[in-house]
Amino acid sequence: MTVEQVPMTADRDTAWWMQGNYAPIEHELTVEDLPVRGRVPDELTGSYIRNGFNPPRTVPFHWFFGAGMVHGFDLRDGAVSYRNRYIRTPYLEHDLDLITAVGDLRLSPANTNIIRHAGRLLALEEAHVPWEIDAQLDTVGSVDFGGRLTTPMTAHPKLCRVTGELLFFGYQFLSEPYLTYHRLDAQGNLVQSEVIDIPRPVMMHDFTITEHFAIFYDLPIVFAYEHGGFRFDRSAGARVGVMPRNGTNADVTWYEVEPCTVFHTLNSYERGDEIVIQVCRARSLMDGGMDDLGDQATLWQWTIDRTAGTVTETQLDDRMGDFPRVDDRRVGLPARYGYVTGLLPGSHPILAPHVIRYDLDAGTQIVQAFGGGSTHVGEAVFAPAGPDAAEDEGWILVLSHEDTTETTTLNILDAQDFAAPPVATIDLPQRIPFGAHGNWMPTLA
Ligand SMILES: [Fe+2]
Repeated sequence: MTVEQVPMTADRDTAWWMQGNYAPIEHELTVEDLPVRGRVPDELTGSYIRNGFNPPRTVPFHWFFGAGMVHGFDLRDGAVSYRNRYIRTPYLEHDLDLITAVGDLRLSPANTNIIRHAGRLLALEEAHVPWEIDAQLDTVGSVDFGGRLTTPMTAHPKLCRVTGELLFFGYQFLSEPYLTYHRLDAQGNLVQSEVIDIPRPVMMHDFTITEHFAIFYDLPIVFAYEHGGFRFDRSAGARVGVMPRNGTNADVTWYEVEPCTVFHTLNSYERGDEIVIQVCRARSLMDGGMDDLGDQATLWQWTIDRTAGTVTETQLDDRMGDFPRVDDRRVGLPARYGYVTGLLPGSHPILAPHVIRYDLDAGTQIVQAFGGGSTHVGEAVFAPAGPDAAEDEGWILVLSHEDTTETTTLNILDAQDFAAPPVATIDLPQRIPFGAHGNWMPTLA
């Protein structure tokens, strides 16, 4: 994402994102009725789709810049089928690099997340507009909501289950506005866009909502031409901005916090006049440049007292982890259970041997470990047993990769019996590279 004097590609032999299970795969498959060990619960009907980086030809100079490929799992009547497809954008077709592609909002690698809103599947990456795909994972086209979206869209919008709105932001770093808030109504119409003033361009990967507020994280991964890209700058300070969901820039209240970085948020919610925010927080990031994903995050809670104007910062666990998720139905509301992919010190970002289930009310954790040290897992996604199921009544879906056999497995865990072996494991017909985010979707129709 640097601007000048940076090589467009990296060396295939030394780029860690081209080695092992970070490396891209070649084939687009469609496979029905995969062999299942154990039993896929009958109530588990729907699709799990995960996005990730899969550069087709040249070697991108950062792991995050490979073209997007989605992997979809359809679960129905105990049977599992799999298909994977590239998202066919100009970025893929013309083998673009991100330097060329920044500035034209359509030229997205579409590689970071895949969500469903207002009947559409949207593949997201934070420097561009979404790309729509269909239920067969074939690409439909770019989406700018009737020309109304004139900024990039984050890969981490938040769907409010109460109103059906999709709330999100877009940040950009080459020109103002550096931050814009957007609100889609339940029908997918872009009904509000508000420029939010921040003092300098920063990398802003995620945000959160509560019942009444949208919350922005102005943390100091600062864009600076003179340093050729983003870098952590403690002197820029760190602020959390709280804005009424239908408000404007003038309504934002900023709260200072200790300088830090947050790639991913777990959740936030209101508790009386307080706002509780749970995040995977690291002391710094990219100190040594954009490829330095070094100081890994642990789970923290920020409690904002809106009356006193104070923030209390509390570390909830000293285990490292990222890819935090709650039951999607609890986003913006109090959530008791959180799922975090555990990371190893000094490892590359996704070399994660276990998933941690947090009981945030009780302050306890359960760890589900995979394999004997050569197995690594991705993001853990909760799938409820039904629309009215209790918060933890359902299953966790998580991909694991076994290095020694170069095989990837879809694991289904009982969320209420989290330490138990998976209720079902499905070995996949090809390995799935470590990637980004996915979601459970009860229907794609
Ligand atoms: Fe992310």
